[in-house]
This record gives sequence, C-alpha cells and structure tokens, in this order.
Amino acid sequence: MKHYLSIHDLPSIKDTVKEAIEIKKNPLKDQALGKNKTIGLLFFNNSLRTRLSTQKAALNLGMEPIVMNFGAEGWQLEFEDGTIMDQGKSEHVKEAAEVISQYCDIIAIRAFAGLEDKEKDEAEEVLSAFVKYATVPILNMESSVGHPLQALADAITIEEHKPAKKKLKVVLSWAPHPRALPHAVGNSFAEMALAHEDGFEVVITHPKGYELSPERTKGARIEYDQKKAFEGADFIYTKNWSSYKDYGKVANTDSSWMITADKMAVTDNAKFMHCLPVRRNVIVADEVIDSENSIVIKQANNRTYSAQIVLKKILENL
Ligand code: CP
Repeated sequence: MKHYLSIHDLPSIKDTVKEAIEIKKNPLKDQALGKNKTIGLLFFNNSLRTRLSTQKAALNLGMEPIVMNFGAEGWQLEFEDGTIMDQGKSEHVKEAAEVISQYCDIIAIRAFAGLEDKEKDEAEEVLSAFVKYATVPILNMESSVGHPLQALADAITIEEHKPAKKKLKVVLSWAPHPRALPHAVGNSFAEMALAHEDGFEVVITHPKGYELSPERTKGARIEYDQKKAFEGADFIYTKNWSSYKDYGKVANTDSSWMITADKMAVTDNAKFMHCLPVRRNVIVADEVIDSENSIVIKQANNRTYSAQIVLKKILENL
C-alpha cells in the first residue's frame, strides 16, 4: 500500500480485519519491520485516541514516532498556489511537506473539515496538498471527509462481536449535539459497512435534512423513523454530524434522537458503538453506554490494531 487515505485503499476489508485480529494476538512480532523508520504525526486538530493509538501502533512495529501539534505550534500554512504571501501565512505547504518528508518515512495527518466551504472540504485541502508535495506515504488520521483508521477499527470490532447466525443488520444513527461536527466518521463508517465483503444490511437513520453525501451512502436504506430503523439491528453505531445540504449548520438538536434503552430494546440485542469522544446524556444515555452491550472501550482499543495493520502494509511497500 502506498497511501492510506480512504477505506477503499484496502484491497479487502475482510482480509485486513483478519490480519489485524492476528496482529492483536502478538502485537510485537513485527518489531524489525519499522526499525530505523520514523513516522511524523501532524495534528491540525485535537485528539486522544488517534494520537495515542497511532503512536502505540508505530512503537509496536519498532518505529520512532515524532508528534507535532501543527495547529498550535507550526507555521501557518498557505495551500493556494500562486498566492502573494504578504498576509498571515508564513510557509507554503509545498516546502513544509517536502521538508518533513526528509525527516520522516511516513507522514500521518489529522485535519478536520472547516465546515464553512463545502467545495474546499470535499477537495481535502490539507490531505491532498501533502499527498501532492510530500515524497513519502501519507496516512489519514481523519481528514475533512473521512476517518478510515476509525472505520477499520469499527470493522474489526464488528467482526469480534458479531452474532453467528445471519446477515448482519448494521444501523448508523445520527444523534443530537450542540455544536456543528464534521461528516468524516459517518462517511467512513457508511463506506466501510457498504463495501464489506460480508454484505451487511446497512440502514442510516437521521432527521430530514441530515442526509450524507449520496455517493457515500449508495446501497444503504435511509430511514427517518429512528425506532423503526433499530428494529432487529445487530449493531447500533451512533454519531452526530452537521447538515450536509445546509452545509455545516446545526439544523436540529432534538433530544428525542438520543440513544436510550427503550430504543435499544427493539434491536436484536444490538451492541452499541461510538467512536468517542461522546457527550453522555446528549448523544447517548448513561444506561446504554454503561450497559454490557456497549463495546465503545473495545472499539477504541482496536484503533491500535487498525493503525498497526495499515502501517505494516505501508512499511512492507517502502
Ligand atoms: N475516535 C477518535 O478519532 O478519537 P480522537 O478524536 O480522540 O482521536
């Protein structure tokens, strides 16, 4: 693998999940693979899980991680070509990406959507610039439109907790949040669930006006009645996102969309999933996240193994 930018960069989700579960049994077995190799983790936005699990994965592979909080500590970058740089931006991404490529064998980037300019966000301004100007592989640690390391961790978690019986019903449910959040997690989860070789039944439920990009949800059933969507589900994956149509706006904060025990009761004993961080009693009631069907902590643990299998594949190709 050259870059890991989207879940579609994996040759097979099912096979990658299997390999990740094998790595989890003996995470230090490939220590020699990353010896004398450096990964630079550039954070333009905050993180807990991605920051620590990606470093942990790199260390498991014998790599040296370097972390930079680019948003707070780096020079402000210019991304436009041909700009007269006489305003606030101090460095062009062209030089920055080429310079960092000399220090690092892999560059990992977290850069969220600004949620002000849909076209700019869809063009993946930061990630695409690093792909264009860096001379080493790029790892997406959550970009404007996708969070493929999270989606792979989600696929691993589903594999580990799925019932043995049937075609799985996987529901992606919007839930309320007071602030405007990006679409990346919902997008990548939908893409993963729809592309998974096991052929999940994928249902997405949200209030009207919260439709995700149709290209990314093609093949899913959109159900505006949340409780109906939950009927017979095996996994409830919850996430807030802002409006895509009325781009970046909070159009609905209806607390009746919060995940509660009475909604979980109509599922087929579904597991509850969320990528974290989560606002308790806004997105999900304590009674659900604290229940034995909640697998959010195990899901977060799998972030290490999703990063590790991806880094392993990139290292094997260096
Ligand atoms: N799920 C996730 O990406 O967590 P962080 O934002 O804490 O990295």
